[in-house]
Amino acid sequence: MICWKEKTILLGVTGGIAAYKAAQLCSDLVKTGAKVHVLMSANATQFVSPLTFETLTGNKAAVDTFDRNFQWNVAHVSLAKRADVCMVVPATANIIAKMAVGLADDMLSTTLLAAGCPKIVAPAMNTGMYENPVTMRNIQTLKELGIAVVEPETGRLACADTGKGKLAREEALFHALEVALTKEKDLTGCRILITAGPTCEALDPVRYLTNHSTGKMGYALAKAAQLRGARVTLVTGPTVLEPPMGVETVPIFSANQMFDAVTSRQTSQDIIIKAAAVADYRPASEAEDKIKKSEGEMELKLARNPDILAWLGEHKPAGQVLCGFSMETRDLIENSRQKLIRKHADMMVANNLKVQGAGFGVDTNVATILTKNRAEVLPQMEKSQLADVILDRALEFLKVKKK
Ligand code: C5P
Repeated sequence: MICWKEKTILLGVTGGIAAYKAAQLCSDLVKTGAKVHVLMSANATQFVSPLTFETLTGNKAAVDTFDRNFQWNVAHVSLAKRADVCMVVPATANIIAKMAVGLADDMLSTTLLAAGCPKIVAPAMNTGMYENPVTMRNIQTLKELGIAVVEPETGRLACADTGKGKLAREEALFHALEVALTKEKDLTGCRILITAGPTCEALDPVRYLTNHSTGKMGYALAKAAQLRGARVTLVTGPTVLEPPMGVETVPIFSANQMFDAVTSRQTSQDIIIKAAAVADYRPASEAEDKIKKSEGEMELKLARNPDILAWLGEHKPAGQVLCGFSMETRDLIENSRQKLIRKHADMMVANNLKVQGAGFGVDTNVATILTKNRAEVLPQMEKSQLADVILDRALEFLKVKKK
């Protein structure tokens, strides 16, 4: 989990029409709690005033290398040293070319050259400029230098052309930042399958049975694992959440579909984490047409769904780590430990729905991580933070198993 408050971000803005979008990005970066310093090329100031960024960040926007009113001595070096990451949004063909050859002729390019931290560029320009072999070669050079490039999108451009060159969406820019700021890539080479959300069990073409799961815990796990370098597959029931970037997402509806999606991918995984709230029962038969109401009560016959975690436990390949979730409303530890043993899981994340700060929909959780010999009681924490703790424990297990 990234502690934004401890981060200093240098946002470079260069002279393309997408510079106006950098103001929104800047505002959203400031909202994370990060310290943001903006550096602009002279051309960028033609599109957006430095005052816009100064008001958003509370810091002077740096444009002129020789500005004597700047609060630091040798400002470009000073800024470069304090940065955790530099991001150029939008990046014109000009700044890309300068970065590719190491030109340093203004405040932004000088600072970029002086900075040793991770760097990201988000190109935005006319398609002809973008696809010009010179720009393509320069972008390739940046990649070879270890600079992350957030690919532009295809769409209608300011010049009225339609083509590639539109600034990437803010979600992609944030993702690149999170990748750059997550230093620990300890899950590199690891394949992780995570299930999330509810399952829905159809009664007829109109109705289904489901539960309150929102998928937040599973999605937090998928995101954290991806940022730490894992190859992640997220098998998810219907949720309103955006799938994390860089994750293979497999949408399913019912428990049976989840069973197929998970079991067909099971053997190739190093770690499987079953955070989904899988329905234990489904309507015994799904009516082809809408069930019409009639007078009096109605009885519903239910059939058992397969227990996916139990199946995975029974068919677990050597060296694989299997982690389940256990949500209870009473006797949490006893019930969860029984599940751990019965389903042959290595770890069980137990949480009591009735404890404040835990359960469906909220951003926090209060969990105990159970293994065969241990119960690690964790304090209330953000689901994103808990995700990292679960992954830490799963990785410890994996290392022991792979020895
Ligand atoms: O037994 P219980 O449903 O409480 O166990 C919860 C754990 O088992 C969760 O990890 C859940 O994803 C998994 N589960 C499953 N298939 C079911 C029911 C639960 O994989 N049919």
